Amino acid sequence: MPKKEGIRELFDDIAVKYDRFNHISSFGADRSWRRKAVRAIVNTDKPIQVLDVATGTADFAIAVSKKAAQGSHITGIDLSEGMIEIGKTKCQGLPIDLMTGDAENLNFADSTFDRICVAFGVRNFENLMKGLTEMQRVLKPGGRLIVLELSYPKNGLLFWFYKLYSLKIIPKIGAKMTGNTGAFTYLPDSILKFPLPEKFIPMLREAGFSKIDAHQYMFGVCRMYCAEK
Ligand SMILES: C[S@@+](CC[C@H](N)C(=O)[O-])C[C@H]1O[C@@H](n2cnc3c(N)ncnc32)[C@H](O)[C@@H]1O
Repeated sequence: MPKKEGIRELFDDIAVKYDRFNHISSFGADRSWRRKAVRAIVNTDKPIQVLDVATGTADFAIAVSKKAAQGSHITGIDLSEGMIEIGKTKCQGLPIDLMTGDAENLNFADSTFDRICVAFGVRNFENLMKGLTEMQRVLKPGGRLIVLELSYPKNGLLFWFYKLYSLKIIPKIGAKMTGNTGAFTYLPDSILKFPLPEKFIPMLREAGFSKIDAHQYMFGVCRMYCAEK
């Protein structure tokens, strides 16, 4: 099965329990990481057009919509119909439109958005470079991209504990909560395979971004990248 089809099926399958699993497995820290990323996106008093790529159940899009100036609008896209359907139930009355879509083939004109964010999504892209290039294309010149992604500590002992938690404990929690064992073997594995800043920053540059900065939280368990077109 192609990676993209597998990813779509995986998230369709765990959609209902996804939010709860996130908060439990990160000991609630995902909320504070999201807040930091929201602040990096909403760094202006002016209304902004935002694209939330891999929006999932729209938690991130909702948080952005609550902070952004009146007149702002958020478009959320995701491969998984199941995640989008749950997201829609949470977005009533908010300036958010959710739709299915593929980050690697964005259905928007060049230079459409002031801000683009991807929270915990890029590591699932089948072709990371294609996704980054597409996001650069639909971002307005001077617009900002914020990537929030799970990663791992580089320090030997911390890395050892991290691997124990993510490869042995997370799959057990995930399987117990959702009944899906495969998903929670894939998810930690995809974190370990995703490039560290020394490799990811050059990729952002190659995709056409500049003024790139990287931040790390909880010893590198989560990283945030801010970049400009
Ligand atoms: C871990 S969830 C993150 C959801 C959300 N951004 C959040 O912060 O909770 C990853 C999401 O990425 C989506 N995804 C993976 N590959 C994608 C792609 N190529 N285009 C759009 N969405 C994608 C999955 O369907 C899934 O909903």
